[in-house]
Amino acid sequence: MKQSFIPAFRKLFGSPPQLLSSAPGRINLIGEHTDYNLGYVLPAALNLQNYCLLSKRPDDRVCFWAENFKDKDEFLLGKISFSESKKWVNYIRGIFWVLEEEGFVLQGINGFLWGDIPLEAGLSSSAALEVSVLNGLRALFRLELEPIKRVKLARKAENEFVGVQCGIMDQFISVFGEKNKALFLDCETLESKLLPLRPDKEGLRISVYESGMKRELASSEYNKRRDDSGRALEILKKFGARDYKGVSLSFLEKKRTEMDEVLFRRARHVITENQRVKEAVQALEKDDFRLLGELIFGSHESLRDDYEVSCPELDLLYEVAREFPGCYGARLTGAGFGGSGIALVHQEQIPALRAKLLEEVARRGFVRPEFYEVDIGEGAKAEFLSEEGN
Ligand code: GLA
Repeated sequence: MKQSFIPAFRKLFGSPPQLLSSAPGRINLIGEHTDYNLGYVLPAALNLQNYCLLSKRPDDRVCFWAENFKDKDEFLLGKISFSESKKWVNYIRGIFWVLEEEGFVLQGINGFLWGDIPLEAGLSSSAALEVSVLNGLRALFRLELEPIKRVKLARKAENEFVGVQCGIMDQFISVFGEKNKALFLDCETLESKLLPLRPDKEGLRISVYESGMKRELASSEYNKRRDDSGRALEILKKFGARDYKGVSLSFLEKKRTEMDEVLFRRARHVITENQRVKEAVQALEKDDFRLLGELIFGSHESLRDDYEVSCPELDLLYEVAREFPGCYGARLTGAGFGGSGIALVHQEQIPALRAKLLEEVARRGFVRPEFYEVDIGEGAKAEFLSEEGN
């Protein structure tokens, strides 16, 4: 698949591409809405990727074609503005903007984008887009950008140019993901550890359930949750807490009357979710998928009841999976408010689980979901295609 757009690039721009860059989407096994609360996360990169073919231009014009949207974007370096009308272009413009902010002097680019990560499905297609463009430009212009700097700049583009106040998880895993590994990350210190993720050892597979409910991450609810959890922490700080990682559930319980009920539940989610991530790391270290599955179910309950970011379509996955023999765990993954869920399920039981889900979807009158069996893939890569680029 990755080479198949080279002729299209050549036809569109009249010369061959110099470089192919790719970056993956992700699932998050556990640790949801903890990244911006400077806690723990445990994502894994997907084999679903965003790809980008690039070549330099002699002028200062940037021209991109996005195959998935059948749409193009053009702008001039030094004059990068936010587009109100076309959402996807801002992820690319944001990367050029952030590089200019860093003082890098670039030249014009021809670019061709495509990918197989479902869009707005909670699988982090936007971080993959940002990281693939950034890493491609880094390689092409030989910019001095350490991997961690790439993560930070891609996130900065999303926070400050696109205007989505996301945490660091998606860009981090897109850069640092490795095949058949999950990545434990402390979002405060940015210390990370790769852990083997081999559910196949027990005949299990991770199945993605895309609810079909498109979510608007930039929209208000995500930012409201950030705000709630931040306010709850401010209250806890008055009583000596330093951060969420250092707060126990019993400490929070004692301060219950100091905050309103909603803030209490938001804080309880963050505290218990951090704890679940730590236990999930231990479970992975022992290949204990039963335990991992229970923690995954627990995460969904907390996201549904305390953090309130689920929706009926994602609750259905949880409810069906809970009762389904052969399914060890299931939950929403990513920000929530629609998007996707994951299930840890015995390979041979997947068709039966899907059938059961579809039956319930029809009974409840929900939109038809999509199912993906995913593999855990590699982080971002950039490779020169011709001698000329080397
Ligand atoms: C989105 C954001 C991430 C993270 C998750 C929720 O994917 O981009 O930074 O906050 O939501 O865990």
